Amino acid sequence: MANIQFHDLDWADLWVQAKKKKNWRRKGAADWDKKAASFAKRTASSIYVDKFLALLNPQPEWDILDIGCGPGTLALPMADRCERVTAIDFSANMLRLLEERAAAEKMDNIITRKLSWQDDWQGEGIRPHTVAIASRSLAVPDLKKALERLNSFARDQVCITDRVQHGPMDPDAFKAVDRDLNSGPDYIYTVNLLYQMGYLPEVAYIRLEESLQYSSFDEAYASYSWMFRDLTLDEEKRLRKYVQSITTTHQDGTVEVFRRHVPTWAFISWKPGVR
Ligand SMILES: C[S@@+](CC[C@H](N)C(=O)[O-])C[C@H]1O[C@@H](n2cnc3c(N)ncnc32)[C@H](O)[C@@H]1O
Repeated sequence: MANIQFHDLDWADLWVQAKKKKNWRRKGAADWDKKAASFAKRTASSIYVDKFLALLNPQPEWDILDIGCGPGTLALPMADRCERVTAIDFSANMLRLLEERAAAEKMDNIITRKLSWQDDWQGEGIRPHTVAIASRSLAVPDLKKALERLNSFARDQVCITDRVQHGPMDPDAFKAVDRDLNSGPDYIYTVNLLYQMGYLPEVAYIRLEESLQYSSFDEAYASYSWMFRDLTLDEEKRLRKYVQSITTTHQDGTVEVFRRHVPTWAFISWKPGVR
């Protein structure tokens, strides 16, 4: 192997190259629109929220910019503790769910904006906030640009979560249907890129539940089939068999899925002004 030094590596470019090898298509706004309701249901009871908030430690005087906010997974509990949240997403359905939930809770300190990572936020009136977050939403073609953008919209702190290895994808499910899984670059590129950009990222890990409860086997199966596009009948059969092999049915009819690969997220935070 050539004598490669750390400073020879261009992490922004390595990330782009690794992204090209990723073998599932990035979801567009229409895909997220379709997924909004089930995503909202699934995340509402996840330990992810409490773990994220414990690491963020939101303060009452903060205003927070939440990019890729989804159905308000974090925007709602953060708004409960902070001065104000600006919630950005390109999916109209996600924003609608967030707004409905905020109205039901009589919360009036969340501003929603239908914007994508690529839009001109400044031109759309978005100003820097105390803290900018992007939770499980770094779906961008150019990571370095996205990080620079986060830095310019945060005064005190930026917090993102990024996949550790396969994240929510289950490699065993891919094996079961005999498809390759290449989930693209994970958080380690992001940490190295931030370091190379001159920042001092801190990293913590959010490990999700070992097992998940569902009201029926079909619901459990749906939580696996979303990982794949265009399953053939034979693949569906094999995937069902795999999900059955890791599922226990309880006496009350609910089912519990035991995960061998527990999804883990890296919580990365840094101070945008410290270089
Ligand atoms: C996995 S969900 C995360 C939602 C929420 N932040 C959470 O942690 O539960 C990803 C969200 O990012 C949004 N998203 C994906 N790509 C986006 C883009 N290019 N611009 C704006 N939002 C995007 C999706 O619509 C979706 O709501």
